[in-house]
Amino acid sequence: MENSVLLIVSGGIAAVKCPQLIRNLVKKGITTRCILTRGGAQFVTPLSLAALSGEKVYEDLFSLTDESEMGHIELSRSADLVVVAPATAHILARMAAGLADDLASTALLATDKPVMVAPAMNVRMWEHPATRQNLQTLRDRGITIIGPEQGEMACGEFGLGRMSEPEDIAGTIEKFFKSGKRLDGKRALVTSGPTFEAIDPVRYIANRSSGKQGHAIAAALAGLGADTTLVSGPSNEPEPRGVSVIHVQSAREMLAACEGALPADIAVCAAAVSDWRSADAAPSKLKKNGSAPPPLELALNPDILATLSAAGNKRPALVVGFAAETNDLIEHATQKRLTKGCDWILANDVSADKGTFGGQDNTVHLISDQGVEDWPKMSKQAVADKLAERIADTLEGAQS
Ligand code: C5P
Repeated sequence: MENSVLLIVSGGIAAVKCPQLIRNLVKKGITTRCILTRGGAQFVTPLSLAALSGEKVYEDLFSLTDESEMGHIELSRSADLVVVAPATAHILARMAAGLADDLASTALLATDKPVMVAPAMNVRMWEHPATRQNLQTLRDRGITIIGPEQGEMACGEFGLGRMSEPEDIAGTIEKFFKSGKRLDGKRALVTSGPTFEAIDPVRYIANRSSGKQGHAIAAALAGLGADTTLVSGPSNEPEPRGVSVIHVQSAREMLAACEGALPADIAVCAAAVSDWRSADAAPSKLKKNGSAPPPLELALNPDILATLSAAGNKRPALVVGFAAETNDLIEHATQKRLTKGCDWILANDVSADKGTFGGQDNTVHLISDQGVEDWPKMSKQAVADKLAERIADTLEGAQS
């Protein structure tokens, strides 16, 4: 099936590069349909975009003809990928705020497809805290940011903010389509976040896990085409697009949800599961009777990673665990791989000074039967992408 892009052209001088971008995409066999914003139409004509793409160009949210031919919801979902190029500071802000005040922003809010943006703006606008924050919001939602580049700008200033070259944007889009399907037909199960273990209806035992890494892994596996189920403990992370999310509280609920999601080809246990729970959670709030604290007897929780690794004919072909350690990282993680019976362990140092819990970055070591591989410090998103690619390499290797 032919790949298709919905290209949203917003109002920046870089819109003049869009005809070249369309040429590049069409040459790569990618069907390109355009939405041109009012601002975009100041720089490039609908006629030129239509002529190069060979498709109708959409401009007005309330055009009755367009709505009867193709409603904005359908338009937003008819393509495999939505690309905003150039993406002005204004459209990025509207996306971050969830506004729907023209056809472009409405399509962006209505789409259920992956979205990429290629920002283009003056360096001061690029560096403004509002833009930084909007970009972080978009990144957190799984939107891919292409560029921008450093260079001379139309306004005469020099710095970051120049839209990436059309060839580079088209290259990123092509890579997305080529790599996008490596895990097509595979089922993945990911655990993420902490677990909450009730002491009574009000109090619970928990830990500092944010769910950032596990959610990013689920998004990356789904991005490669895997049918992905994310079993998540309580987390403030947004639900990744295209992933079925099962929300749980306790380790026992997490195990039941994981077993219910089998069979799977891949399991990645990134959750920080509480090792213990209250042996006897009180049905009503414990009272502060006098000064003596109530005794808290703990019971051992099931080990989800070990259970999945020993699931007999339901065992996923590749089971990956994490080892969060504060000392003797490699030694402990190597031992953990053997005791849990999983295939790979990603070992990470969670000492307080590393800022791993809740932070953006992670430094991990991949431990397998092949030995230890040190990965450089990178964002949790990049760790997730690299892991998903490695999983795809391994499953493809096993098939051939
Ligand atoms: O034993 P430890 O908690 O250090 O092991 C960490 C790894 O085991 C992680 O992959 C975590 O998701 C998984 N785990 C689990 N169930 C538990 C405890 C840990 O799946 N009860």
